[in-house]
Amino acid sequence: MSRSLPAQPKIQVFPDYEALSRAAARVVAGRTRANPEAVLLLPTGTTPLGMYRRLVEMHAGEGLSFARATFFNLDEYLGLTADHPASYHVYMRENFYGLVDADPRRVHVPEGNAPDPQAECERYERMMAEVGGVDLCVLGIGRNGHIGFNEPGAPFDSRTRIVRLAETTRLVNAGDFEGGRAPERAITVGMRTIFESREILLLASGANKAQAVAAAGGEVSEAVPASMLRRHPAATFLLDREAASAVGEIS
Ligand code: GLP
Repeated sequence: MSRSLPAQPKIQVFPDYEALSRAAARVVAGRTRANPEAVLLLPTGTTPLGMYRRLVEMHAGEGLSFARATFFNLDEYLGLTADHPASYHVYMRENFYGLVDADPRRVHVPEGNAPDPQAECERYERMMAEVGGVDLCVLGIGRNGHIGFNEPGAPFDSRTRIVRLAETTRLVNAGDFEGGRAPERAITVGMRTIFESREILLLASGANKAQAVAAAGGEVSEAVPASMLRRHPAATFLLDREAASAVGEIS
């Protein structure tokens, strides 16, 4: 086996989704136990569901507490109210924040229907700065290599801002919306803000992520947003076997 694994980020491959999810939960739990006031930047999507499930179990069964932690979410669709069934507010409440002892005053998701979306981006960025930045950022990855809603071409020095979604992303996410149309725009935490997190975990599961993961391990380029993580001193890719199946094929 002469696969040319990138020097960074570190890559850990797990036999299946369950093992990957447990490993991710172990890291989040460990960092929160070591620093109960940790600042976490968290993803949505199908990939982190197993991690959230495991964290909820650890809260219920092992007394893991999130009461003093601060949470930020990576993104939200523009125009959605916090009670829209496809909103990331609802997703996070139903899958994590509402099932643990997170303090609502320290839970932040971008307001998709803010009257002044630009001001909302600035407010969100400022809040992250005011708490001293992010200790641990957990990411999924889009099939096109996006992180958060930073689509291919997103500048590495970008901050929280309004973005236009790639057509492919809108198609992949269309099922969450009545009429099968995902919104055209979103608010996302920017590339630079993600990069400034002290530690980053990227989770990927399944064969449909294999190409994106391989590209992320290739040349660092704004065309593949996740490739930025190669320059990060403390980034780890947690992959199941299928997501890892093309690593080293692209360089
Ligand atoms: C979504 C989210 C991302 C997520 C990605 C992958 O559109 N904005 O934050 O990581 O797409 O989602 P999934 O885990 O469902 O494949």
